[in-house]
Amino acid sequence: MADSVLTTKPSIDSILARAARLASDYLSENKNRDRLVVDWLPPGKLREKLGLKLPKEGRGLEAAFTDAQSFLKRSVRTGHPYFLNQLYTGSDPAALLGEWIASLANASMYTYEVAPVFTLLEEELVRKMGKMAGWEDCEGIFNPGGSISNLMAVLAARNAAFPHAKQRGLLAEDRPVLFCSEEAHYSVPRAASVAGIGIDAARKVPVDSIGRMRPDALASMIQKALADGFKPFMVSATCGTTMPGAFDPLEELADLCEEHKLWLHADAAFGGSVLFSKKHRNLMDGVERTNSLSWNPHKTMGVPLSCSALLLPEKGQLKATNALDADYLFHDTAEAYCDRGDMTIQCGRRVDVLKLWLSWQSHGDEGYRRRVERAFDLTASGRDLLKLRDSFELVREPEGCTLLFRFLPPSLREQERDEAWNEKLERANITLRERLKHEGRIMLNYASLDGLATLRLVLTHPDLTVEDLRFILDEMERAGANL
Ligand SMILES: Cc1ncc(COP(=O)(O)O)c(C=O)c1O
Repeated sequence: MADSVLTTKPSIDSILARAARLASDYLSENKNRDRLVVDWLPPGKLREKLGLKLPKEGRGLEAAFTDAQSFLKRSVRTGHPYFLNQLYTGSDPAALLGEWIASLANASMYTYEVAPVFTLLEEELVRKMGKMAGWEDCEGIFNPGGSISNLMAVLAARNAAFPHAKQRGLLAEDRPVLFCSEEAHYSVPRAASVAGIGIDAARKVPVDSIGRMRPDALASMIQKALADGFKPFMVSATCGTTMPGAFDPLEELADLCEEHKLWLHADAAFGGSVLFSKKHRNLMDGVERTNSLSWNPHKTMGVPLSCSALLLPEKGQLKATNALDADYLFHDTAEAYCDRGDMTIQCGRRVDVLKLWLSWQSHGDEGYRRRVERAFDLTASGRDLLKLRDSFELVREPEGCTLLFRFLPPSLREQERDEAWNEKLERANITLRERLKHEGRIMLNYASLDGLATLRLVLTHPDLTVEDLRFILDEMERAGANL
């Protein structure tokens, strides 16, 4: 079949109209609690069901629609209120529209000449988000996820401390070390690895009982590194840690960084949206003293993946770190000062700003504030509900919008707590979580904390209620009754 036959106007009209209907039905069903989050199948069975095979001859637009429908049906419904597995959730029609239009325009964010509108949107969003962090002016760039924003921060900090590294690489005598908490996201040590500093040079600072980096421990570790002949250059604080959602104390860390002339980065990939709330903004007091800030609108603000900004109060750092002046791309035009391609490690770059812009227009600052405050309130209620039940044990007092706890199966409740008990508890919690996933009604995650599997509920879905939380805990008790 000739390609033109596949894309004639009538068939595009009909397929896109049906796709719009599919999307709209799908979105409205996200509120239906009776819907499964996932119709779970293991990989072998799923492969069989999907009949994955690419054709020699094109099958046309109709086939594309049929496949898309079947793939969506078998995918995890991440906008469902009972998808509590990841730090992102929800579904936002305005943002979806932005995603579609961005693909339709198919611009690349490197130059003003191919992305004039989106370049200006990005500048505006950077300015607005920077202002919320307390900076009158700043620079920034949208990246494909918080991991890349953190990497870009490490590269910028490395460039400030070891400017020769861009051209010549790190030298044996450089001996750089950076610090992050032992509960920082793994993208920070990985960034150290990618930046040629090495994972061992990302030193893990102990946390307090809530999960916040301890400034006293950091001070000792900086002293020790200096005494051993290393060159500390950066502290990566976390605002909203991946498991307990804790906020490292930025003011105290900023004091230490100023004293030792270290770059202070705030990884607020998860927690950045507290800046919308007067009530909770104090968790990020001191953010205006940082040198860089990662903030993912694709987490608590509900914009679809991926959407992550890196913001820096001192202009020029991104270009100083990344620019290579490729002359086939960046020309000496009157508008070249708007080109953003040399601020990043990417060449072609997706338009991630349109979906955020449209979502922000649709919700406003106040809509996001309500969403954030609701998540905090719900977490406080969830904590109280957990405490009332013998079948659960809270593992950390929540500071952000996640609940960390363990399920205590009836068979273990009255037994002595020794190593064998711990092992049984670990197995029971992992089994419970797998059971729930296979049933498909609720998805939640777990990780090892203090050496033991710990369940995590992320409570940022805007439609989640206290009633839902009761149901979720009931379901866990039901599914774990015989463990
Ligand atoms: C604290 C923190 N930083 C960074 C990241 C990485 O973000 P992304 O998944 O967008 O790469 C995560 C992911 O969950 C995170 O929790």
